[in-house]
Parts: sequence; C-alpha cells; structure tokens
Amino acid sequence: MARTDNDSWEITESVGATALGVAASRAAETESDNPLIRDPFARVFLDAVGDGVWNWFSAPQLPAELLESEPDLALQMRSMVGYMASRTAFFDSFFLDATNAGIRQVVILAAGLDARSWRLPWPDGTTVYELDQPRVLDFKASTLNEHGAQAACNRIAVPVDLRHDWPAALRQAGFDPAVPSVWSAEGLMPYLPAVAQELLFERVQGLTAIGSRVAVEALGPKFLDPDTRAKRRARMDRVRTFLAEKDPQREIPSTDELWYFEEREDVGEWFGRHGWDVTVTLSLELMAGYGRRVPEQVEDQVPGNLFVAAQRARI
Ligand SMILES: C[S@@+](CC[C@H](N)C(=O)[O-])C[C@H]1O[C@@H](n2cnc3c(N)ncnc32)[C@H](O)[C@@H]1O
Repeated sequence: MARTDNDSWEITESVGATALGVAASRAAETESDNPLIRDPFARVFLDAVGDGVWNWFSAPQLPAELLESEPDLALQMRSMVGYMASRTAFFDSFFLDATNAGIRQVVILAAGLDARSWRLPWPDGTTVYELDQPRVLDFKASTLNEHGAQAACNRIAVPVDLRHDWPAALRQAGFDPAVPSVWSAEGLMPYLPAVAQELLFERVQGLTAIGSRVAVEALGPKFLDPDTRAKRRARMDRVRTFLAEKDPQREIPSTDELWYFEEREDVGEWFGRHGWDVTVTLSLELMAGYGRRVPEQVEDQVPGNLFVAAQRARI
C-alpha cells in the first residue's frame, strides 16, 4: 500500500500491521527454548487478530520444496527473530538503567504493541507516555484490558501522528520538559520521511532537560544501497511466486513499500552536534553480544541498523 503524507491505519493494515509483525517475532522468541526476552502479551495481541501477513515474522514452517530452492530462507527468518529479540533486550535495558538512575518520565515514540508498560519492573512513581496513532493505541489498550492485564507503571496513551505537532499533546498529557526524561524510537525511522525524522529529533531536543536519555534504532548506511534492496525484492518475489501455487493462504509482506528511501543525517552525529554524549552499536555486534550471532551467509539479510544511545550533557 503506497504511503501518503497524512495516512493513518488500523492495527491490521499498512504500517499498523508492522507492529503485529514485531509482536509475532517477540511471541516466537518468548515461546522458543532459550528466550532472550519474555513478552507474554505478544501472543495475546496475535490471538486477538487471528492469522495474517504479520505471522511471516514469527518464522513459520515453510514447505520443504521452498526451503530446498531457497536454502538460506529459514536461517534468514530465524536471524530476524534473533534481531527483534536483541533489539527488544537493548531497549529494555536502556529504560531500566535510566529509571534505576532516577529518571521517572519515559516516552515511547511509536509504541505500537510494545508491552513494556505492562511487563517491565518500573520503579515506583514512573510514568510512561506511549505515542502512536489512535487506532493502534486503542487496539492495544482494549486487548490488554480484556485480558485483565494491569500496567506496571502510570501508563498514559498519547494518540498522535508523529509527523504532526505532537509535543503539545505530550505536554497536555502531563509531561514536564523541565525534568529529565528517557525516550525510545524503536522500529520507527524507515516509516518516517527524512524531513519528519529531522523534525522529530528537533522536537525531542526542545522537550529534554540535561541528564535526559534517548535511544534510537537508526538506519545504517546500507539502507539506501540499491543492490541490497534489489536482492531483497527479488528474493521475496521468488518466495511469493512459489507460495502462490503451493500455499496460497500464506501471505508475504512487502514491508519496504511502506518505507521512505531517502537520505538522512546520521542519527549519532545529529545528537553529538546537539550536546549529547553518544554511543553507537552495530546490529550484528548487538546480536553477538546477546548470543544471537548471525551466520555469515545471511549477514547481509539482517537489518544493518545502528543502535544509538545518547545522554544530554549540554544545552
Ligand atoms: C514496526 S512498528 C514498531 C512498534 C514498536 N516500537 C515495537 O518495536 O514493537 C512501527 C510503529 O510505528 C508507528 N508509526 C509509524 N509512523 C507513525 C506516525 N507517523 N505516527 C505515529 N505512529 C507511527 C506505527 O503505528 C507502528 O506502531
């Protein structure tokens, strides 16, 4: 589905469905033999919507014939589950370190079906502001309410479009820019045009006191590489053609149709220039650190994203 400047979505469509895709990965990891993270709510969301294209991201069993003709496919899909688990673990630790160091205002940009408000051991007095599109946040709250889940913090939903003027809504919800805060932007960047990404960081800058922290899953240099993109497309087209005959029920996502392939400023450099102390970890290093080393033959099929962690040191 092509993107437009003011598009919006249900949880099962367009960019909304990508939040279900991430939930499918987290459910697969949670239910695996040796999980790196445990997110019991991921399965609750998936059960609420039934089967769909999002289940591709849980690395489902595929026909043997397909795996013979695409020998790296199963490994690639398992590595993607490992990628999502490592990413989840990274942001979990980032938030817990910040709140254990005394920060009590948390902002999750593009929260999607991230269930951290329910599953992390937040210190008393922590408020978590979750920003995402209204129908995504409604689905999440109503599904977890029906499940009887209780948030483990003071959780405040802030329904907004992150391309629009969301700081007013965040302040109105009770956020205090004069007090340090901790922020995440996980699984968001490719869905924002480059101009909106720049504006997002400027707005974060305007809302953060010294001592605040920000973590971003930033796009790496290979994101724009035409070869990588063409190879990914060709591989998925082959899989799509094969499954159209053998397993027509199985839907294959075209996530990159939802992405903005545009030049962007390096996120670590942006924060460095604006008075933040920055550390950057490459995705493959992050995964190796969590015991999810990626086999060489599928290294280029795992997102080459950069995990940026920053702390505001100066005005
Ligand atoms: C891939 S999901 C990631 C969700 C969550 N951060 C996670 O990692 O589980 C992308 C999320 O970004 C949200 N999103 C993308 N563009 C947005 C925008 N312009 N305004 C608000 N939310 C947006 C989508 O609704 C979706 O929930």
